[in-house]
Amino acid sequence: MRGTAAISSKWVWASKASAIAREAGARLREFFAQGVETEYKGGVDIVTVADRTSEKLIRERLSAAFPEHGVYGEEGTRERLGAEFRWYVDPLDGTTNFAHGLPQFCVSLGLEQRLPGLASDADGTLVAAVIYDPMRDELFVAEQGRGATLNGRPMRVSNTPDLAESLVATGFPSRKRHLNPNIHFYQEFTLRSHGVRRAGSAALDLAYVAAGRLDGYWEFNLNPWDTAAGILLVKEAGGRATDFSGGTFKLDSREILVSNGLIHAELIGLFEDMFAGRNLAPIPTPQEFAASRAARAAG
Ligand code: IPD
Ligand code: CA
Ligand code: CA
Repeated sequence: MRGTAAISSKWVWASKASAIAREAGARLREFFAQGVETEYKGGVDIVTVADRTSEKLIRERLSAAFPEHGVYGEEGTRERLGAEFRWYVDPLDGTTNFAHGLPQFCVSLGLEQRLPGLASDADGTLVAAVIYDPMRDELFVAEQGRGATLNGRPMRVSNTPDLAESLVATGFPSRKRHLNPNIHFYQEFTLRSHGVRRAGSAALDLAYVAAGRLDGYWEFNLNPWDTAAGILLVKEAGGRATDFSGGTFKLDSREILVSNGLIHAELIGLFEDMFAGRNLAPIPTPQEFAASRAARAAG
């Protein structure tokens, strides 16, 4: 009977976290309606009272619901990190959108199980995930081995068979922007697909791959609070998640590549080509374009 109780109790993780994400999302909606001041954390990395209020609420609710679980949040929460279970919390993913009044942001909660003895730099197992978009009232949920849902309905990745027919997404960091090569990848993916979306919320990008709205997504330099929930959503919806070389995705690896699985080998091949500088499609430079524009104007 003890075994049965342990098994049934794990299925409360996602449902309790869903209620917490909805409550935090409702607070974000209120802040969004009234408008908030922005502060800079570094570079163009923005934080607002909404980020902090949401994290405080989530920390308090998670600690009350799961007093033995750890919590690791973007806005500084580090609680019980030696615990077997750890929640990765992004209290507001898409802060730049939020601060500009663009309604594309969410709350992301991912639960990792870290069995005793696991090395501190090793990943545990992602076991529950909740991403909530308060503006569309969309709740994305996954539980390890039980699939993924959108507002309670099962969701699956897309069936798109190749990159040429794919809609993909990426994002750009708000710190050390001059060290990031992603604009080159953006260019090449744009030329080879139906298009690349840069919508400004990594967690929603991942949820959308899981829901089949996007066929693939990649980004450099994300943090575990951005990815923990979304990775489980993608896997439980039948997709694939790796680093840029096809190796195992790690929460702190700073490389994330996810897809519907069908186009994954092609995406890895494109990364290989990009890193080797092979087979890249040329486009005119602004100067070349200006010269042909001037020539056209001259008749
Ligand atoms: C950011 C968003 C964005 C991604 C950035 C993240 P934040 O998270 O997910 O889409 O491109 O790299 O830092 O700061 O809004 O929580
Ligand atoms: Ca984030
Ligand atoms: Ca955030």
